Amino acid sequence: MSEFVSKNLAVNEKGHLTIGGMDTVELAKEYGTPLYVMDEDLIREHCRSFRRSMEKYYDGAGLVCYASKAFCCKEMCRIAKEEGIGLDVVSAGELYTAAGVDFPMDKVCYHGNNKTDFELCMALKYKVGRIIVDNIFELERLNELAAEAGVKARIMYRIKPGIDAHTHDFVKTGQIDSKFGFALETGEAFEAVKRALSMEHIEFVGVHCHIGSQIFDIAPFAEAAEVMLCFIEKIKKELNYEIRELNLGGGFGIKYTEEDTPVPYENYMEHVSKRVKELCKEKGIKQPFILIEPGRSIVAPAGITLYTVGGIKEIPNIRTYVSIDGGMGDNPRYALYKSAYDFVAANKADRDKDSVVTIAGRCCESGDLLGEGVSVQTLEPGDTLAVLATGAYNYSMSSNYNRVPKPPVLMISDKKVKIAVKRETLEDIIRNDE
Ligand code: LLP
Repeated sequence: MSEFVSKNLAVNEKGHLTIGGMDTVELAKEYGTPLYVMDEDLIREHCRSFRRSMEKYYDGAGLVCYASKAFCCKEMCRIAKEEGIGLDVVSAGELYTAAGVDFPMDKVCYHGNNKTDFELCMALKYKVGRIIVDNIFELERLNELAAEAGVKARIMYRIKPGIDAHTHDFVKTGQIDSKFGFALETGEAFEAVKRALSMEHIEFVGVHCHIGSQIFDIAPFAEAAEVMLCFIEKIKKELNYEIRELNLGGGFGIKYTEEDTPVPYENYMEHVSKRVKELCKEKGIKQPFILIEPGRSIVAPAGITLYTVGGIKEIPNIRTYVSIDGGMGDNPRYALYKSAYDFVAANKADRDKDSVVTIAGRCCESGDLLGEGVSVQTLEPGDTLAVLATGAYNYSMSSNYNRVPKPPVLMISDKKVKIAVKRETLEDIIRNDE
C-alpha cells in the first residue's frame, strides 16, 4: 500500500482506513453516509505552521487570516479564534457565522466584488478590521454608508497585480482580465487611491492581491509582493502617503494526488519576507504589516468524505460506473473543474488498487461524477468509499440539488468525535417552503 496524500490517514489491523486514528468504516456505520470527516488536530497544526512562519520570518508583524470560504461553520471559526488567527469572509453569512462565536472582529477581512448595502452596513456595524474594497462604485457607496453611520471605514484595495499564476483558469484571479479589483496598468488603482485619501469617512490602510488558488510555486507570490511594493512606493513618492498594510491573499497548493508537489507552508513566508525586506530597504519604504489568507491549505488535507457504494454498471469495452450515495451535491469540484482526487475503499484499504473505474454521483445529471478512470480497490455494493483531501471547497460548495439533504461534518480530535454540523433532514429541505 502506498502512502496516503494526507499524513493523518493510515490503515489499521482490520485493513480499514483511519483518520486521526479513528476507523472510518466504524464512523460511516455510526453516523451514516455521505459523511464529511475532518481532523481538527491537523487543522490546528496547519494554523500554527502559518502563524509560526509569520513570527519566525517576519517578526510577527503580520496576521494569518483563514479564508473561511474554504470551509465555514461555527466550529471552524472557533478553531481559528482559539489559534489566534484572523478570518477572511466574503458574505453576510460567513460574517454572521463568525459573529456567532464572538470572533474578534478586528481580525476579520471582508471581501467580495459586489457587496450589497446590507453587507457593507453589517461590516461597519460589526467593526470588521478591514473591508477589502473591490471597485470605485463600492468605495463611493461605503463612504456614504459610513457617513450615515457616523463612522470611518478601514479599507484596503483589491489590486490586480498582473501576475500569471499557473493554475486552473476558473481559480486564477491576478491577471488584468478578472472581475476582481483595480487594475494597475491603466492607472485605475492609482486614481482610486487618490479618491480614497480625499474621503472623510474612509481610512485607507493598505492594498491586497490574490493571484489564484492551488499554486505550487513560490515565485509568483514573491513577484506579486514586488509589484505591490512598487505601487506602495509610487503612492509614497507621488501622493506622499505611506501605505501601512499589504495583504498577499491565499492560494497555497495542497496534495490531492500523488502528482501534486506542494511546498511546505512555512516556505512561503520565508521566501516572501526575505524579498519584502530587501525591497523595502531598496525603495526606502517602511516594512508593511503583512496579511496572508490561506484557505485550502489549512483545511483540505484535514478532510475526507465517506460514501457507500451502490450499484455498479459495467459497460463492456467502455467503462465501469460505480455509483455512490453522494456526488456533485456534496462535492461539485469534479463537475466544475475536473479536479482530481484520490479514492480508497475504506474497508479494503490494505488491498491493492486493482481496478480502474468512474465514480458516479446520485444526481440526475450525466456530469455528476467525482472522477473518471480512477484507480481504486475492486469495489462492491455496500463498500465504504473514501475520497481524500476534501476538507476545502466541498462542504462550503455543497448544494441541495435534487433536494438531497447535506451530509454532516464530524470533527475528530484526540480520537474523540464532535459533530460540527448536523446532517440535514427532510424537514430542513422544506423548511422555507410556504
Ligand atoms: N483570499 C481571497 C481573496 C480569495 O479569493 C481566496 C480564494 C482565498 C484567499 C483562499 O484561497 P486558497 O488558499 O483557499 O486557495 N472553489 C475553488 C477555489 C476558489 C478560490 C476562491 N478564492 C476550488 O474548489 O478549487
